[in-house]
Amino acid sequence: MTLGYDARTVCRDVRVAIPRGSFTVILGPNACGKSTLLRGMARLLRPTAGRVVLDGRAILEMPSKELARRLGLLPQGAVVPEAITVGGLVARGRFPHQSLLRQWSSADEIAVAGALQRTGMLEHVHRRLDELSGGQRQRVWIAMVLAQQTELLLLDEPTTYLDVSHQVEVLELCRTLNRREDKTIVAVLHDLNQAARYADHLVLMKDGAVVCTGSPTDVITRDRVTEVFGLACEVFPDPLTGSPMVVPLPPRDQ
Ligand SMILES: Nc1ncnc2c1ncn2[C@@H]1O[C@H](COP(=O)(O)OP(=O)(O)O)[C@@H](O)[C@H]1O
Ligand SMILES: [Mg+2]
Repeated sequence: MTLGYDARTVCRDVRVAIPRGSFTVILGPNACGKSTLLRGMARLLRPTAGRVVLDGRAILEMPSKELARRLGLLPQGAVVPEAITVGGLVARGRFPHQSLLRQWSSADEIAVAGALQRTGMLEHVHRRLDELSGGQRQRVWIAMVLAQQTELLLLDEPTTYLDVSHQVEVLELCRTLNRREDKTIVAVLHDLNQAARYADHLVLMKDGAVVCTGSPTDVITRDRVTEVFGLACEVFPDPLTGSPMVVPLPPRDQ
């Protein structure tokens, strides 16, 4: 498919398949089109050519609420609505399940409580979002998407701006959701080593095109990292997990 803004094409002729049940990570330099691709997958952006298919059906033909019950998106740098509480934000994830005839119900209550519990935020339900740390806030956003109860979660840079222990915490949460609850996860990350550790499927992008997809071992090679990121490096097996580990080389002396 091809995606862009007004007359400007950003992603041209990209072909990606997200394996069901995978933890897929999209990697690529700044401005290469990762968010644009994710927004296309979530129908926030209509392709200028091609289409997105979910379970054999074009998402453009699905009613919005049905799509929102199957796919949840956490956009990059989501802005906190003013003076909202943790519970209030997570409850927004239930909108797709409501209608004029079916207002707030016990099913909504259970979904919200479950999402707060799995993200460790239940005890903070009445706190205001702007009182929380960045890591806690990120967990609340994920709880909001979880409350939507979709099988597919699209997370745009869920770890950016977090310190390393909170990054790991968010990635562990994603892994648990993927493994224990069979959620298919598609996340944009910047850290190649974290991506290689947590993902079972990578999509590597450059300049609006998909350079390569596959397992971390297949995708993360020295030459490819150098080509895509312009980074001289070596790739070793991670001593703990065996996944590829990128070690940047110092720039050569002039
Ligand atoms: N709403 C928009 N309108 C116009 N151009 C945009 C918009 N969003 C992103 N772009 C442009 O599209 C390109 C890819 O952006 P993006 O998909 O956000 O990249 P990434 O997420 O990989 O950093 C960039 O050049 C960016 O400036
Ligand atoms: Mg982005």
